[in-house]
Amino acid sequence: MEKFRAYRVHDDGKFGSGRAETMTRAEFDAGNVMVRIAFASVNYKDALTARGKAKIARRFPLVAGIDLVGTVESSEDPRFKPGDEVIVHGFGLGGDHDGGYAEFGRFPAEWVIPLPEGLTLFDASALGVAGHTAGIAVDLMQLNGLMPDKGKVLVNGATGGVASVAIDILSKLGFHVVALTGKMNEADYLRSLGAAEVLDRNALQLGTKPLEAAMWAGAVDSVGGEQLGWLIRSMQRDGVIAAFGNAGGVEFKGNVLPFILRGVRLLGTNVENPLERKKAIWQRLASDLKPRHLERVARRIRFEGLDQAFDDLLAARARGRQVVDFSLG
Ligand SMILES: NC(=O)c1ccc[n+]([C@@H]2O[C@H](COP(=O)([O-])OP(=O)(O)OC[C@H]3O[C@@H](n4cnc5c(N)ncnc54)[C@H](OP(=O)(O)O)[C@@H]3O)[C@@H](O)[C@H]2O)c1
Repeated sequence: MEKFRAYRVHDDGKFGSGRAETMTRAEFDAGNVMVRIAFASVNYKDALTARGKAKIARRFPLVAGIDLVGTVESSEDPRFKPGDEVIVHGFGLGGDHDGGYAEFGRFPAEWVIPLPEGLTLFDASALGVAGHTAGIAVDLMQLNGLMPDKGKVLVNGATGGVASVAIDILSKLGFHVVALTGKMNEADYLRSLGAAEVLDRNALQLGTKPLEAAMWAGAVDSVGGEQLGWLIRSMQRDGVIAAFGNAGGVEFKGNVLPFILRGVRLLGTNVENPLERKKAIWQRLASDLKPRHLERVARRIRFEGLDQAFDDLLAARARGRQVVDFSLG
């Protein structure tokens, strides 16, 4: 039986551990749409899964990878036919159900999103869960009144995947974007995506006042922890924060004054949404929110490069997005 490449997590260690190997179609997970996977992106969550740093893999062995794009090979569901280009993410992909780091996979039709016009398969994978999260963050901030004339927008964890795409989208929409990073050597990269200013995290004074100087009309936060606490205290009146990340920690100290005196809105931002909401965000990412610099943000890597990619992400050494390109041998 034909064997194909797959990166699978096995039941070793506390939360599992991943390795590159081969599998066969006889091992496919449940589903009625068979996809030849073209690209699968590397997300922070995938690094946690592969390295057993968090309880994400719920069964073993599990193909890791929380998003994928590819072409339908066959479908038992009339909504899809061979040759259709599709995106799959969410619904437990790469956690409960085999994910994207395999050359082929089988998925329930209810999870499958047709590639929207305006995006190539590479674009969609360069965006992936990270870009989709950036799209949701911008969408939520706009729904809560953020407009370019309200003031500056801070993007924290700026060189990361979600943040790089957010900078690109926000600058395209005309916002004055301030990138906050621990990697000042990447300042030129951040400016090339559209950041108007780059701030050094190592020089940041978090302060201790219940209200700090009001600096930001909006904020996109990948980092969490005490930096999120500082952000909440540093927002302008009616400022909006899209918070989705914990790359820098989980807990923060806070007080109610930013909420009751400045009307600050903390917008919990989660990528798991019903299919129709997902499709709507993908439509925006293919049109008015389409980033201008995806080729700069994302680089193609070989399947064999996954282990290195995970280690770089966990050590905060990575920049932008990395996409496994199965055509690269
Ligand atoms: N809620 C959701 O639905 C959802 C969806 C997608 C992602 N997320 C979360 O959002 C965060 C960002 O995801 P991502 O895929 O963009 O990750 P990523 O590419 O690894 O980016 C994270 C960035 O955070 C910064 N950072 C600051 N302190 C860090 C630390 N102690 N360790 C590692 N990075 C640190 C780094 O940028 P600088 O050096 O430039 O500061 C790093 O590049 C992650 O926590 C991820 O789990 C959540």
